[in-house]
Amino acid sequence: MKCFYLFKDKSKCRRKAESAPELRDQNKSSNNNNNNPALDRLTKSSGSLPSPKSIPELYKEKEQELRAFTFQELREATNGFNRMLKIGEGGFGSVYKGTIKPLNGQGNPTVVAIKKLNQHSLQGHKQWLAEVQFLGVLSHPHLVKLIGYCSADGERGIQRLLVYEYMPNRSLEDHLFNRAFPVLPWIKRLEIILGAAEGLAYLHDGVEVKVIYRDFKSSNVLLDENFQPKLSDFGLAREGPTGDRTHVSTAVVGTYGYAAPEYVETGHLTVQSDIWTFGVVLYEILTGRRVLERNRPSGEQKLLDWVKQYPADKNRFSMIIDPRLRGDFAPNAAKKIAKLADCCLLKNAKERPTMSQVVERLKQAIQESQASSSSSSANGTSSSHKSNLVKGKSK
Ligand SMILES: Nc1ncnc2c1ncn2[C@@H]1O[C@H](COP(=O)(O)OP(=O)(O)OP(=O)(O)O)[C@@H](O)[C@H]1O
Ligand SMILES: [Mg+2]
Repeated sequence: MKCFYLFKDKSKCRRKAESAPELRDQNKSSNNNNNNPALDRLTKSSGSLPSPKSIPELYKEKEQELRAFTFQELREATNGFNRMLKIGEGGFGSVYKGTIKPLNGQGNPTVVAIKKLNQHSLQGHKQWLAEVQFLGVLSHPHLVKLIGYCSADGERGIQRLLVYEYMPNRSLEDHLFNRAFPVLPWIKRLEIILGAAEGLAYLHDGVEVKVIYRDFKSSNVLLDENFQPKLSDFGLAREGPTGDRTHVSTAVVGTYGYAAPEYVETGHLTVQSDIWTFGVVLYEILTGRRVLERNRPSGEQKLLDWVKQYPADKNRFSMIIDPRLRGDFAPNAAKKIAKLADCCLLKNAKERPTMSQVVERLKQAIQESQASSSSSSANGTSSSHKSNLVKGKSK
């Protein structure tokens, strides 16, 4: 499991898990959905604020849009959670490719991804619930779509599952770091990170409540059939501070190497923590290296320390660009991306750019790369940026 819990209050986790609200019970008719006492309690507890509405309140208005599956339906959808259909594994549990029948029984079956909570996961229920509520409310072309969920407590223990739209081209992580995949061309890298940035900008400023994603990393950027990126995994997402508050206080959770230093030190979470993490992924895109690679010489293991030795305004900067690109990138745009990453990684969180500023800077870098690509192909000097677009592995 890649997630870490620096501050873990186990007794607190357990209490929360036991008293956590239930969603629609798969065995009850959906007409009962508005009479869920546990969800009511949750809504009322934060309901005294006049505005804006909280995620649980917004969720209550939209919950009918999610489909409540029975465990049996999802077992059939995955051929009994057949190992041959397993497409991934993360901290939450296993992910399977499956096929679900339409609700009314008519029409073609839909291919989906089904995430099944590992039953021993202490944090699992809480993350599952957060994911259902956030993705039940949020909707954007660059967020993965949640189709439904399953919550069943039976003789075999609790079962918590999530059903998503299927993303056939796997994750940005696979395309950047897995040698079995063709090289991701320069412009495609930028287009993918731009889409991911637009998804993050929507979370920070496009919804009634500010949403802090808290888990931005290349494995959570999934790619659809057209290589359009979509953010996935909202189990760690939190509502941002409201009113005069500057941050939300929380136990420190996330993935090693990606979390902002002030958040790790204080547990104070802000939207700027996401911006830091975005800066880390920008350097992954530039270098084709993971944030932490223990098999490298000691000075190169930590990506952020290593790239500091190759600043964007020095000639040696080009040494850090992913060698798999074989020089096929726009040097000026690459420098701009590195400078943008450095701004995202400023120690003083208040000096970091907003996500909408990041989006603008990325658009400029793409334009510059396209311009340099067309001028070099007009001169016949480079095979630069041809969209020899990877045919990603489809499962
Ligand atoms: N909707 C989806 N469509 C297709 N594949 C998916 C989908 N969701 C997840 N996957 C696959 O399952 C893998 C595991 O995903 P998961 O989110 O459980 O773990 P992770 O992101 O790798 O790690 P972590 O648990 O630390 O977030 C992903 O990398 C991806 O390949
Ligand atoms: Mg993930």
